Amino acid sequence: MRHIHRLVSRMGKSRFPVLILGETGTGKEVVARAIHNTEGRGPFVVVDCSSLVGPLMESELFGYARGAFTGAHSQKLGLLDAANGGTAFFDEIGELPLDLQMKLLRVLQEKEYRAIGALAQRSSDFRIIAATNRDLAEEVKAKRFREDLYYRLNVMKLRIAPLRERREDVPTLVLHFLQKYGSGHRVADEAMALLQAYDWPGNVRQLEHTVQQMVAMHTGPWLTKADLGSSVISSSLEKHLDSQAYIPLAEQGPEPPLQGIIPLAEVERRTILHAIEHTKGDRTVAALLLGIGRTTLYRKLKEYGL
Ligand SMILES: Nc1ncnc2c1ncn2[C@@H]1O[C@H](COP(=O)(O)OP(=O)(O)OP(=O)(O)O)[C@@H](O)[C@H]1O
Ligand SMILES: [Mg+2]
Repeated sequence: MRHIHRLVSRMGKSRFPVLILGETGTGKEVVARAIHNTEGRGPFVVVDCSSLVGPLMESELFGYARGAFTGAHSQKLGLLDAANGGTAFFDEIGELPLDLQMKLLRVLQEKEYRAIGALAQRSSDFRIIAATNRDLAEEVKAKRFREDLYYRLNVMKLRIAPLRERREDVPTLVLHFLQKYGSGHRVADEAMALLQAYDWPGNVRQLEHTVQQMVAMHTGPWLTKADLGSSVISSSLEKHLDSQAYIPLAEQGPEPPLQGIIPLAEVERRTILHAIEHTKGDRTVAALLLGIGRTTLYRKLKEYGL
């Protein structure tokens, strides 16, 4: 996050386009707003490319002139007009239909556009920040996204890593959310270790909800492993068990006594190995995940020669 923070303040000082890539819930909108707020000039307008499609989207973006179509009793300004002097945040840009991609490209090139049914050109001076959880380069290859627009948007790129690739951020985020939702709640070391070991498929958003839930369910002050709810603990564990189930027979050791049945000691050895790999060698967390004490883990590691 500190790395992102530095990039944000650098990017905030210019008006060049920024492309933000990241999985769902990683904080793309948070970062876009932070870039905008660096200078804090003008409005921040969100254009949600996934919720609007077709003609509706076009009139939302560009607005329309009076009498442009039945029911257009007065002129309506579009989102691009609203973003004048500020930032237009194109969220989920990968969802933008091809015809609108072309229209957007033209606006970015000419800084001018025409409202639906209007004769005169309008101009709007906005900075564009686009975000997507898709692999846009792939989309370009598959011809679902225009290459020229991609290069226009991709002047500065910022990739926000999923939470499982920056577990060191978890404690800071947890403290942040405890301040936001808690009333003097504190997280026990053991519980924090589990929060850090979990993979968070929904990233920061999911972590935020989890903390919120824990706080709502427990008056505190200490939140322990027992308060973590089934989800975090069990999915950390389930993952290990699941992967156990799918080990191909050929890999099950030298001579399995009976087809499909693995000796318990072998299951234990593999589970331990798995936990150690998963925690990247952190034996304290591995022991927590395995539900055994640290000394027991050390003893077993020695026993199995791991
Ligand atoms: N670094 C952070 N600090 C504090 N809160 C964060 C951070 N990153 C994300 N969040 C919180 O996580 C939630 C999701 O963030 P955001 O909406 O920016 O994600 P997103 O990448 O746009 O997700 P999606 O692709 O699903 O739209 C928000 O509630 C936001 O406040
Ligand atoms: Mg978003």
